Amino acid sequence: MFVLTIYFLATWLVAVVSCQNTTGNGALTFTNPVLDATGADPWVIRHEGYYYMTYTTNDDIVLLRSQILTDWNIVEKKIIFQPPPGLNYSTDLWAPELHFLSSKWYIIFTADPHNDSPSPEVDMWCDFNCPAVHHRMYVLEGSGPDPWTATFVYKAQLDTYDQFAIDGTYFQHASGLYHIYSCWYRSYDAWPANLCITKLSNPWTVSSSFSERQIISSPTNAWEKTPYGRPFNDRLSSNEAPQQLTNPRTGQTFVIYSAARSDNRNYCLGQLELVGFDPMNPSDWRKHNDGCVFYQNPTEEAYGVGHASFTKSPGGNEDWIVYHGMRDPSNGWAARTIRVQRFGWNDNGSPRFPKPGYGPYNVPDGQGKI
Ligand SMILES: *[C@@H]1O[C@H](CO)[C@@H](O)[C@H](O)[C@H]1NC(C)=O
Ligand SMILES: *[C@@H]1O[C@H](CO)[C@@H](O)[C@H](O)[C@H]1NC(C)=O
Repeated sequence: MFVLTIYFLATWLVAVVSCQNTTGNGALTFTNPVLDATGADPWVIRHEGYYYMTYTTNDDIVLLRSQILTDWNIVEKKIIFQPPPGLNYSTDLWAPELHFLSSKWYIIFTADPHNDSPSPEVDMWCDFNCPAVHHRMYVLEGSGPDPWTATFVYKAQLDTYDQFAIDGTYFQHASGLYHIYSCWYRSYDAWPANLCITKLSNPWTVSSSFSERQIISSPTNAWEKTPYGRPFNDRLSSNEAPQQLTNPRTGQTFVIYSAARSDNRNYCLGQLELVGFDPMNPSDWRKHNDGCVFYQNPTEEAYGVGHASFTKSPGGNEDWIVYHGMRDPSNGWAARTIRVQRFGWNDNGSPRFPKPGYGPYNVPDGQGKI
């Protein structure tokens, strides 16, 4: 009996001490990455006490849920959509996002029909090699108010005029709902990848005509090109992964996007701010041309940081960024893992992102008091 009591006491002590600075329930600090496995294009949304995460798995769409933001290794996880073969959205499922719009849950995602390999008779039209030429945006609709128990079924393709479209997101504004996505100017451009906007009449229907589609950002700055400052053509110059971000204090509306190229160290976040009243008017957007607003940190071996989404701490007082990055920049896409960090705001109301790294960092407010 005595031995047993000592044993339990010791186990409890070890648990308490080791929890002080490791990740997990009750921890005070955490380290990155928050998911040990390879993962890219993370999207997190907080809803009724849970964080929901989805990210690129290529063959299907997975949903994870957790009460904490800083450890996704041992959490509930399920496949919520697996497309049948032979369709235009059967392969290369990328960058899924879960949104609650007009009282329903929607998943918006990128996919293509042939594992990114167009036939030579399509490829020949492209200015550069263009494996992504058939990528388009699609929408799933969920049943019921709970995203965890909802059944998600295919709803529609989001019209991008039969042109390249990846990383689409919803942009919510007083004037309505919009689709912002990575686009080419013409069908076979391949590069540059710009940010396009169209108006929606509901989460799966585009109401803009092709001539009304607008480009609100192109990778024209040296830091948006690959390699940095590439002087002779737009190959690998990208604007992608747009994401709405609103300053909770001032109400300023930003679109944070990813720039340069996702497979190397220079991938970073750029910033647009809606300074006018019409999201469809390119001159109502002000671009931060002075450089990335979140970028590699070589002293901590944090490279290629981008494709972010944004959420709040459980206590609701802190803003957090969820993004992917690499420790080894020479291994390309396979080296990406999912990370989270707290961020703040500048005096002018724009987001002030931290240097990316591995921590340990303090856990979000309201976490760990379990
Ligand atoms: C974790 O805590 C232990 C004991 O307090 C300490 O020795 C160790 O350096 C800490 N590790 C980190 C990464 O902070
Ligand atoms: C599949 O994609 C091709 C090429 O973009 C398009 O022409 C065709 O209409 C699509 N099929 C369906 C059923 O949407």
